[in-house]
Amino acid sequence: MCGIVAYIGSKPALPILMNGLKRLEYRGYDSAGFSVLNSDNGKLETVKTAGKIKALENKAKEINAAGALGISHTRWATHGGPTDINAHPHLSADGKIAVVHNGVVENYAAVKKILEAEGVKFTSDTDTEVIAHWISRFYKGDLNEAVLEALQSLEGTFGLAVICQNEPDVLIGARRGSPLALGICENETFLTSDTSAVIEHTQKIVYLEDNDVVSIRRNGFTVQNIKGQPVSREMQRIEGDLEMAQKGDFPHFMLKEIFEQPEALRNCTRGRLILEEGNAKLAGLDNSLKELRSIDRIIITACGTSYYAAMVGECLIEEWAGIPVEVEYASEFRYRNPIIGTNTLVFTVSQSGETADTLAALKEAKQKGATVLSICNVVGSTIARASDGGVYLHAGAEIGIASTKAFTAQVVVLSMIALLLGRQRRLSHENGIEIANAIDSLPCLVEQTLKLSDDILAIAKSYYKSTNFLYLGRHYHYPVAMEGALKLKEISYIHAEGYPAAEIKHGPIALIDENMPVVIVAPKDALFNKVVSNARSIKSHGGKLIVVTTANCSPIDEFADHIIRIPSTNTALMPVIASVPLQLLAYHIAVLRGNDVDTPRNLTKSVMVE
Ligand code: G6P
Repeated sequence: MCGIVAYIGSKPALPILMNGLKRLEYRGYDSAGFSVLNSDNGKLETVKTAGKIKALENKAKEINAAGALGISHTRWATHGGPTDINAHPHLSADGKIAVVHNGVVENYAAVKKILEAEGVKFTSDTDTEVIAHWISRFYKGDLNEAVLEALQSLEGTFGLAVICQNEPDVLIGARRGSPLALGICENETFLTSDTSAVIEHTQKIVYLEDNDVVSIRRNGFTVQNIKGQPVSREMQRIEGDLEMAQKGDFPHFMLKEIFEQPEALRNCTRGRLILEEGNAKLAGLDNSLKELRSIDRIIITACGTSYYAAMVGECLIEEWAGIPVEVEYASEFRYRNPIIGTNTLVFTVSQSGETADTLAALKEAKQKGATVLSICNVVGSTIARASDGGVYLHAGAEIGIASTKAFTAQVVVLSMIALLLGRQRRLSHENGIEIANAIDSLPCLVEQTLKLSDDILAIAKSYYKSTNFLYLGRHYHYPVAMEGALKLKEISYIHAEGYPAAEIKHGPIALIDENMPVVIVAPKDALFNKVVSNARSIKSHGGKLIVVTTANCSPIDEFADHIIRIPSTNTALMPVIASVPLQLLAYHIAVLRGNDVDTPRNLTKSVMVE
């Protein structure tokens, strides 16, 4: 997704911007660019290109861009294709004002019409170019004033960084619905949409709120609301260090993150399980404990992988706490006029905490008076801050676009929430102790499961040329199957479907032939024998069977083509273990196909547009 890195200070801006953009590559993008104020001639030097940062770096060699003020951007095309011209920054007609923008200007067509009637010629197909001309229209020698005035009439969402060659000591930022934060150092300040771009320089962060406009100078900054009234924003220290954003010895971030899961889950559960009481203590829910006792319905809303984690959460909460749960895609929930009773609690689940649909669903739920709690990984993210409380994953930065460690951490957080709600209701002390200990031992079991990576690579070698895959599971493992299929789609570009195993007789069985690999998630639980029957019918129609199971010496050994044997734990927690081999299978297949697994085509890490 689009990313902003801007700098004002005393060092050469260009290398700082380039490094920052590289840190944002993980988000996915299709073009990039920068404007730096050339200190030799006082003019803006702008370079932009379709493609990767490497191409931008090569192009940048052709110009002299010395200067300590600059803005830069990675773009994910929305208005207008991914071309050099549509890449950001966009300039005013006189070339004096440069703008980078995340978000969408909804009334750009109307604004463009006014500008065209006044004689402005547009060079790109973007909504952002409108912003540059619009600010220039109001510019009378004070960039901050011009931005404030221009924003009065722009509708939609924006994270903006703006500079003007007449004002070499000023960097302006503005935010509405798209994240923006300042990274503070002595005599230099960074402005970014994603703090991972600046963690190598500072951990001192000031998050802007919606409708903030910040004016940054070399010796400090001031924040105003859109009406020009001063507002104060506190400085916070962010977690994380540079090492977390490096691949280390791993060829890809995705593989590193798959292997980081034991550590991520340890961090996620640290200090949160009270083993002797058979309960969980989640600080972010402390203020809501009384309210949690009286809820009689839960809605969980999310997108993508987080949605599948929410589906596992539904099973866990219903099983342990006996509270009815509905899980809904945030993109549907926001427009469905959902019915939220007085005792309904809403959870949002979002790794990034920035997904536009999830944020909109959260706002809709709050509009209807609901308490909204959120499960996020990124500390200080927009969703986390807009919620009434919640639980952080503490899984560490997830860079690979295909979510892995965040998924298992989301399931673990949901299991701790289900335990807490269950202990308020029908779980006995003894049940609670058994569950808390099982959650506590998950990191070790995931560690054991990761040892299967080479066996799974061997299986991947047999199927990486397949064009379709089916993933099947039941109850807790239906969402695991869906998530396994999503992982494969995202990075291998193989068509894959996740399905409830018993449902295939109502249609998908027609797809089965010798070219159809079928992954069945079948731990030895109450439904095992039934899943074995489903598997048998697939085999009898010629399908290739890859079975993920905990069972030893079961009938399935006789007819499965491949068995992936995983360690066993409490039935309800098996999704955490069972999803690991599916992540590895997708990873190995994608690598064998020669794909860019960390930044798969057309995808972005956090989707901040509708
Ligand atoms: C994008 C990512 C997915 C992610 C989804 C939801 O589509 O590519 O990996 O699951 O957004 O993201 P969130 O940050 O809200 O969990």
